[in-house]
Amino acid sequence: MKLDLRSIKSEAKDELEKTPDLRSLSEWHSKYLGKKGVLRSLTSDVSGLTPEEKKELGRGVNELRSFLEDIYSSSLNSVTSIKKDKSLENFYKTLPGKKPEIGHLHLITQAIREINEVFSKLGFIRVRYPEVEWDYYSFEALNMPKTHPARDEWETFFIDLPEDPKLGKVVITPHTSNGQIREMLKGRLPIRMLNISRCGRRQSDINHVPTFYQFEGFVVDKDISITHLKGVLEYLIYNFFGKDTKFRLRPYDFRFTEPSFEVDVTCGICGGKGCRFCKEGWVELGGAGMVHPNVLRAGGIDPEVYSGFAFGWGVERVLMMRTGLKIDDIRYLFENNLKFLEQF
Ligand code: DAH
Repeated sequence: MKLDLRSIKSEAKDELEKTPDLRSLSEWHSKYLGKKGVLRSLTSDVSGLTPEEKKELGRGVNELRSFLEDIYSSSLNSVTSIKKDKSLENFYKTLPGKKPEIGHLHLITQAIREINEVFSKLGFIRVRYPEVEWDYYSFEALNMPKTHPARDEWETFFIDLPEDPKLGKVVITPHTSNGQIREMLKGRLPIRMLNISRCGRRQSDINHVPTFYQFEGFVVDKDISITHLKGVLEYLIYNFFGKDTKFRLRPYDFRFTEPSFEVDVTCGICGGKGCRFCKEGWVELGGAGMVHPNVLRAGGIDPEVYSGFAFGWGVERVLMMRTGLKIDDIRYLFENNLKFLEQF
């Protein structure tokens, strides 16, 4: 019996040394000192012992119990006591902490959200269409047949993928006007669409970048006239730039609208005086016009019954023309230089 107690003692001690945390400590406790633990089992059946032997066993077990309880409580202390952290020894309590830097949305995202908000008040619904698109939706269905020279203006990136016999090549959409066709083909009228998307063109200077954003407004209904177009553009310009900004519709030629215009506003950088960005005080924001009957037909809509207007403008241009921002090179918006972005 003596031997037995000694081996339990050393086993229990060894095991306790390997208990790294509270959980294993409590397992150890119930194994040795619990109600159904090892110690209890030693005294559970003493019927075969003489009174002398019982006494001796009782003494031995009591000794063992107090030994186990001692080592248990000192282990418990060392597991639960907070470890002394050396780095805290020199902790200077009154030193102000470092503030985490708080970011904000990129300027372009802010502009997209604002544009969306202005148009949603007029009942336009924002949609998204593919940025990698078929030639058909970006050109052909917009009244620009395969060999039409007007296509040159879009300085298109072609994707190296097999051509589709009907839809043609795969392009990075050079404008958001592809959304006009895709929206009409959904077959729901009337339409008040706002398509905001990334576009691509092979171009780069203070006014142009290869990847930029456009927003496309597109309205189709009965009795839509040019006055509706002008009213919507005016609403956008006054809301986004303020009432002091002047704008003009300059006759232009787009294949997908007739008549067509380019829309200029007084330059927000120089206030219309003329600067390195605008040259003579006006900045073109984008195009607009009355939807061409061929485009309506490509969307399955009868131009004898329905008419519509459309416009497609650059998000970055609109942003840059905001008075007060004074961003005079579009490329700043894509450099992701924090020193620049943090200012807004
Ligand atoms: N898609 C044209 C461009 O990127 C802009 C445009 C002009 C869109 C006239 C229109 C429009 O919807 O009616 O240059």
